[in-house]
Amino acid sequence: MSGASFVVVANRLPVDRDADGGWRRSPGGLVSALAPVMRKAEGAWVGWPGQPDLELDPFEIDGTDLIPVTLSAEDVELYYEGFSNDTIWPLYHDVIAAPSYRRLWWDAYVRVNRRFTEAAAEAAGEGATVWVQDYQLQLVPAMLRELRPDLVIGYFHHIPFPAYGLYSQLPWRRQVLEGLLGADVIGFQRKADASNFAQAVRRLFRYETKASGIRVPDTDGGTRLALAKAFPISIDVAGYEETAASDDVRARAKEIREGLGSPKKVLLGVDRLDYTKGILHRLRAFEELLAEGRLSVEEVTLVQVASPSRERVDTYMQLRDEIELTVGRIDGDHDTVGHTAIRYLHQAFPREEMAALYLAADVMLVTALRDGMNLVAKEYVASRLDNRGVLVLSEFAGAHDELGSAVTVNPHDIEGVKDAIMRAVEMKPGEQGRRMRALRKKVRDHDVEDWSQDFLSALAVARDRAQAK
Ligand code: F6P
Repeated sequence: MSGASFVVVANRLPVDRDADGGWRRSPGGLVSALAPVMRKAEGAWVGWPGQPDLELDPFEIDGTDLIPVTLSAEDVELYYEGFSNDTIWPLYHDVIAAPSYRRLWWDAYVRVNRRFTEAAAEAAGEGATVWVQDYQLQLVPAMLRELRPDLVIGYFHHIPFPAYGLYSQLPWRRQVLEGLLGADVIGFQRKADASNFAQAVRRLFRYETKASGIRVPDTDGGTRLALAKAFPISIDVAGYEETAASDDVRARAKEIREGLGSPKKVLLGVDRLDYTKGILHRLRAFEELLAEGRLSVEEVTLVQVASPSRERVDTYMQLRDEIELTVGRIDGDHDTVGHTAIRYLHQAFPREEMAALYLAADVMLVTALRDGMNLVAKEYVASRLDNRGVLVLSEFAGAHDELGSAVTVNPHDIEGVKDAIMRAVEMKPGEQGRRMRALRKKVRDHDVEDWSQDFLSALAVARDRAQAK
């Protein structure tokens, strides 16, 4: 059998449509995370091209074979917007928004997971390694193992895995665990996610779990070992450093500050427009600081980038309205003709512009209510070659496990967020330098290549163990 020796299966293909109808590599977190690995392995990538009803033949980009999976408009509505982003997403982010449990959505999720599985099974050569990505495809590992027992299967979960008390709400809680347990290695962002998963497995199946190993019944009547462990994801640190060091980006950072009326301090928030990100909590804290006179618009501006996301899902539409109402109110109450309180941008920007914003920002606000990792926190740190700037970081973001030298906040505690913002705004250069150096060391010591190597090494061990059996 011919075919790829390394296959990634993800909801999206790592490409975006150009204005002229061609394709270019997309800038998303997962994509930049896996690009270096794919280039080295000359692998295949199975995924959805991002538009409904688009039927495409496989094509190649940057040495990777791209294998498109077509999703109909109905699939997008039921599998992507419905089960993935209106059931699993809110449930796994601690029910910040209420999950909807719809049987029709579940049926579509099973159907579409099967389609991804079939495409991966066809692309993979004998004994290949297949790496499944994220919560949209939780059933693929077991479906793939059934179709192709010769494969070595990894799964990485980019978002949180909730405590059993919440997970147990899911009407299909057994089926989803069974799906995930089809993998040889199941990777999570935080140790807490891996242990929540192991607990759900113990509660629902009573399988033996020891350290990171889970004894799963095998098709031959015996058992096999599945590894469930934390592999915190990172970023392309060298790439961000290079971008941040460029003259153009540094000049652009200066221009951004001038364009804001040269405030003494620039605060920055960069998020997908998502209720998990705590944007409203952050705005509330900033508004109160202005109202109390602890900050003034002549001296401080908040730049809030909220990139468009999942715009057809109701909860996201409502959130956008609420954020824009809040920003409008704050700006209306506090702006002067020459200075704005909040410069709000409902747009996505290329990496160069992001790096310029990071360099322009004295304070980076990451106040997620729950977040698998939050790569923005790591991007900000990697870009600060000058060892200046303050990262305010939610303890509920996965990045918090590694970035202990940030100013920590509980985003639900508005007084605490206000104090953290003031502390960051007033922080002396010496303390900024000490903290930023420690943060940068953390990020540099564990970049995205280390992440993928760690995960793939664990998969290689699983392969050797399976072969020895
Ligand atoms: O963080 C989870 C995630 O699915 C990422 O993999 C992805 O980059 C991001 O959210 C955006 O999601 P979507 O593909 O739904 O636009």
